[in-house]
Amino acid sequence: MPDPKSQLYRDLAVQLGALLEGESDPVANAANMAALVWHGLPHLNWAGFYFRQGAELVLGPFQGKPACVRIPLGQGVCGAAAAQGRSVVVPDVHDFPGHIACDPNSRSELVVPLVEDGAVLAVLDLDSPVLARFDEADRDGCEQLAALFVAHHRRSARADARDTDPESGCRLPLPRREDLDAEGRRAYDRLAAPNGGTLRGLHGPGGIQLHSPELSRRSRPVNQYLRYEAGLGGRVRELAILATAREHDAQFEWAAHEPAALAEGISPEIIDTIRCGGDIARLSEADAIVIALAREIFAARRVSPQTYAGALDQFGPRQLVDLVALMGNYASTAALLTAFAMRLDEGQPPPLPRLFFPGR
Ligand code: SME
Repeated sequence: MPDPKSQLYRDLAVQLGALLEGESDPVANAANMAALVWHGLPHLNWAGFYFRQGAELVLGPFQGKPACVRIPLGQGVCGAAAAQGRSVVVPDVHDFPGHIACDPNSRSELVVPLVEDGAVLAVLDLDSPVLARFDEADRDGCEQLAALFVAHHRRSARADARDTDPESGCRLPLPRREDLDAEGRRAYDRLAAPNGGTLRGLHGPGGIQLHSPELSRRSRPVNQYLRYEAGLGGRVRELAILATAREHDAQFEWAAHEPAALAEGISPEIIDTIRCGGDIARLSEADAIVIALAREIFAARRVSPQTYAGALDQFGPRQLVDLVALMGNYASTAALLTAFAMRLDEGQPPPLPRLFFPGR
């Protein structure tokens, strides 16, 4: 006779698989998963998600009473599970130092992190009004549901990249020198040269662009002007490029530019803040305004009067136009990388964690 609890979780896993099938929106899927767990498991008074946003967890879809919205990593049961990257079973919440009581009726709790490539993306939090409601079978069962959720979203992202060329790492082959006209061959030789002015040469957006030699010829001077001649400086340039890459989930662009950002003296902490969509309030005004501008342009799709005024103050009209155009230039690169499904180098883990809710 199978243990009834593990049978219950097997049934829930089948139902979750059916609910996720064909849908890639993580918020919609998290909402359905919260509802499935809420109705499928007895004796719960809360079931839902907190999504990781930089150094905080932010409330996601749930069932139950209204709950606290933000939990710093490391705080409460949810923050502990997220910080440690492992499940936490709390038989009696009164015995857990720092437990955050959203509902005074909660007596026990189970928190399971959703982990992809070692990064905690979110936690699944279950509360019960019953003391010691959750045991190892609940932990195992919920971990399997969480793993199914993560695997589903990972699969839908990877399924798109099956049609890539092994040599170019993207959907288009490497451009062939002999197919190009004289101008195209000059561009090819520039890209193939070790110091050709691009970070990845032919094995990157430059190689994709070269399929349209005329575009390649016309866009290069604009890119060079924006990067090196507009007077923005290396720090602003790389902050702008990383923030733009983050907003476009452009893994390849990010991977090419993270070393450049470090070389410009941008600290690993600031890079992680951009990477994880974290809070920029702690950063210097000069750095924060560049990141805020990219986030507002590409995610909020409006730039607030405060951000605009701060950016104008810092850069003046001419440089601000150039800075926004630089972001647009790298958004254009991100579009090419997305459309032609440029893969990371073999064995390189994706540097950008999935952001369910990009941080603001
Ligand atoms: N009790 C949780 C906070 C979230 S609510 O339970 C919904 C904690 O201590 O992290």
